[in-house]
Amino acid sequence: MVFRMANPLSRVLSNLSARRAVESVVPRRTFDDVILPPATRRALDQALHQLTSHDLIFNRWGLGQRHPTGLALAFNFAGPPGTGKTICAEAIAHALGRRLLIVRYAEVESMWMGQTPKNVSAMFRLAREENAVLLFDEADAIASRRSASLEHGFLRETNTVVNVLLQELEAFDGVVIFATNLAANFDPAFERRIRTHVLFEMPGPAEREQIWRVQMHPTLTPLASDVDFRALAEAHEASGGEIRNAVLKAALAAASEPGGDALKAIHQRHLEEGIADVLSAKRVMKQSLFSADEAPSARGALAALRSMESRLPNTMLLTALAVCALILAVIALAVAILR
Ligand SMILES: Nc1ncnc2c1ncn2[C@@H]1O[C@H](COP(=O)(O)OP(=O)(O)O)[C@@H](O)[C@H]1O
Ligand SMILES: [Mg+2]
Repeated sequence: MVFRMANPLSRVLSNLSARRAVESVVPRRTFDDVILPPATRRALDQALHQLTSHDLIFNRWGLGQRHPTGLALAFNFAGPPGTGKTICAEAIAHALGRRLLIVRYAEVESMWMGQTPKNVSAMFRLAREENAVLLFDEADAIASRRSASLEHGFLRETNTVVNVLLQELEAFDGVVIFATNLAANFDPAFERRIRTHVLFEMPGPAEREQIWRVQMHPTLTPLASDVDFRALAEAHEASGGEIRNAVLKAALAAASEPGGDALKAIHQRHLEEGIADVLSAKRVMKQSLFSADEAPSARGALAALRSMESRLPNTMLLTALAVCALILAVIALAVAILR
């Protein structure tokens, strides 16, 4: 990955944390490196087709000069983490023969507090100068901006970000990709600027088997003869990102075993342990997220149940008392009548 230092913006971005937040990359990965469920693949092929024919018609056939469309080619890649959105953005840039400018939106925002709108504009400028595909990665914060901002009171700056983004999209004639996890919360004005949504689905067993396979080097990775990708794929419902992490864990475990390097190999048990670790770490994350976010309501429901329980004996006591009172009243009435 090469970072150009040619312009002032690059100089601003040359410190380390900024490099993590914004990166200009010559894409290396292609669609051959990605295994996608058929529906995702089709949607992506269509998106690519739109891009290449747009390029042909408006750039190479010159019609862009006569008929400026004033519309960026904006796409939203939506789906769970680790389903290949970032790689596919890279593959698209590769297919178009352009650089990829990756903006990790959440980091940009925390880094540039108070100046985000200005820097969002700068990103578009840089993309224009480099003729790069612009990727707003992990862009949920932008997509769900207005509702979130109302809750948290960052209203002015955050709405400005959306407004700036809308203006920039209007003026930009390149390719912009947003990668989001939440498809649902799009700001309507922003939604209108998105040409196509591509839904990244979780891989099924057949895709998972191939993903396990492409994570290994075809010739250099030493695999023991007991390795069975099909079994791993069938046993574990995991995303591509999780499979990648499991493979790296397994490789580390295999490399840490005693003995000479030449004898070391990745065995099925390394892979099994790797994926089990990755998936259980995810469950722990989910649980702690659950207790942080949803516990108040869950706790509320529990408390309500408890208080119903504790009220139960009281209710029975009251009913018994009422019945006694009724019986006494009936007796009193009878006595009065008989006298
Ligand atoms: N569909 C896939 N095919 C192959 N590898 C994948 C796939 N999805 C994820 N991976 C692996 O997981 C890593 C992270 O995926 P990424 O593209 O960042 O996912 P996302 O952007 O959807 O969170 C990739 O670098 C790749 O190694
Ligand atoms: Mg990603």
